[in-house]
Amino acid sequence: MNRHERPVRNRLNGDVLWYKDAVIYQLHVKSFFDADGDGVGDFKGLTQKLDYIASLGVNTIWLLPFYPSPRRDDGYDISDYRGISSQYGDIDDFQAFVDAAHGLGIRVVVELVVNHTSDEHPWFQRARRAPAGSPERDYYVWSDTDDKFAETRIIFVDTEKSNWSWDPVAKAYYWHRFYSHQPDLNYRNPEVVEELLDTMRFWLDKGVDGFRLDAIPHLVEREHTDNENLPETHALLKHIRKKLERKHPDVILLAEANLWQQEAREYFGEGDECHMAFHFPLMPRMFMAIAKESAKPIKTILRQTLSIPDECQWAIFLRNHDELTLEMVTEAERNFLWETYAADKRARLNLGIRRRLSPLMGQDRRRIELLHMLLLSLPGSPVLYYGDEIGMGDNIDLGDRDGVRTPMQWSDRENAGFSQAAPPKLALPVITDPQFSYAAINVAEQDDDPHSLLNWIRQTLRLRAEHAAFGRGSMRFLKTDNDSVLAYLRECRDDIILCAANLSKTSQAVRIDLPDMQGLVPVELTGETMFPAIGRQRYSLTFQPYAYFWFKLTNNGAATS
Ligand code: BGC
Repeated sequence: MNRHERPVRNRLNGDVLWYKDAVIYQLHVKSFFDADGDGVGDFKGLTQKLDYIASLGVNTIWLLPFYPSPRRDDGYDISDYRGISSQYGDIDDFQAFVDAAHGLGIRVVVELVVNHTSDEHPWFQRARRAPAGSPERDYYVWSDTDDKFAETRIIFVDTEKSNWSWDPVAKAYYWHRFYSHQPDLNYRNPEVVEELLDTMRFWLDKGVDGFRLDAIPHLVEREHTDNENLPETHALLKHIRKKLERKHPDVILLAEANLWQQEAREYFGEGDECHMAFHFPLMPRMFMAIAKESAKPIKTILRQTLSIPDECQWAIFLRNHDELTLEMVTEAERNFLWETYAADKRARLNLGIRRRLSPLMGQDRRRIELLHMLLLSLPGSPVLYYGDEIGMGDNIDLGDRDGVRTPMQWSDRENAGFSQAAPPKLALPVITDPQFSYAAINVAEQDDDPHSLLNWIRQTLRLRAEHAAFGRGSMRFLKTDNDSVLAYLRECRDDIILCAANLSKTSQAVRIDLPDMQGLVPVELTGETMFPAIGRQRYSLTFQPYAYFWFKLTNNGAATS
């Protein structure tokens, strides 16, 4: 059977709401594991490392772009939507990976860059040569002048001066919201919409379980607007959802819409657009809460976003492959966060900070754990970024966002055990600075250490998986007499979890209002230790700096009912 005659693959069977219980592990094929020794990670290598991923306790993988691409934006500049970059393997390797992941009960969400292509994409090469006004030219957005859409902001402020670039072949300007080598597709052209749907079907036939839709607020343009979140864009997403859902009711659309909470929420529609959306405003506020030693930033933002359609779910995250974006904070807050977490200006990029979690936290295990406790217990499905589970560092001497995309550190062997190639051939250099070097921070060492961050994450994910309340439960903030303590209840039927976290660098005492919980006994989840029953008075707890608790509320030690 040749590769084009493959049968349609089945996704994992089960609950169509599986994404509510998802714990997502985000990774770059290029940087994960190199099986063929050419210095670049590949699908064969990734497949070999699936047992490791399963051992973490995650159940979904999100793959960064793996398509053929000139890689001027690390693959977010796609030149062929239906192929695999030859450095990463071929479509058979991809298929083998998806099948093996499914065999382990792990779902696969792929990145789909829908807003733009590479300027090397054959559609763009055809468009620039086609006559103005022809359907081929119309695959992209053109103008005779560069002053159209003047209300639209520039996103990559460090590199781009305009959203228009002149094309000498077309003799016209083309529109691009990101790098000038990434022309925006024109979704007013029905042929482009069909191309997108065909691309999705192609990958669905390979068995993928979902798509992360990159940069979707910018899909459709209209004059005299800021070209973000137009009703036309929402209509397009509803159309896509409807088309896919008929045959694939269990496939998810995950929105990358870096927006304020009210606008981001709109990407759920009435439950008829995206199943999931990243919670961009929450992310910097978790960092802010620790820096300010105050629960307020988290409470304020979450209160505004708790109500979403029942079948929808936020995707929440601490770090990812991009800079830690500070677009969804005020200017004063941004300056504060920059001062706190990126005093070294080389760490700043666009409106963000290009650092990994552990360096941001000054390698302070207490704060790294605390942030994970928030990530794993606040409402939504958590997304973990590869390498953060071992506290990997970054390399701000590398350009753009490459510093947070360096090879996974598997061991203290050459190239961090990532590849057998000669070091200069590596996709990106491994981290060697003494504080974060692979010699000190690697999977092999942490595997063997019961107290390592890696094993702590495994244990914590195991605990989380035992409680439906984390993924599916309601959320209620609790009143406290101490602003440094964030306390909330996650409830799903008889599964009631009390979470409490000390955001302060000093020890704290708190009294928590639990008016309707009298008589219940909190059992601390990690050690199953019974705490004093909740009485008529407010419930008292004391904390070490940055400490936290997850309690199951029980009837005298037994589950509530
Ligand atoms: C991705 C970035 C990428 C940009 C342009 C973003 O949303 O996360 O990594 O550079 O889109 O494609």
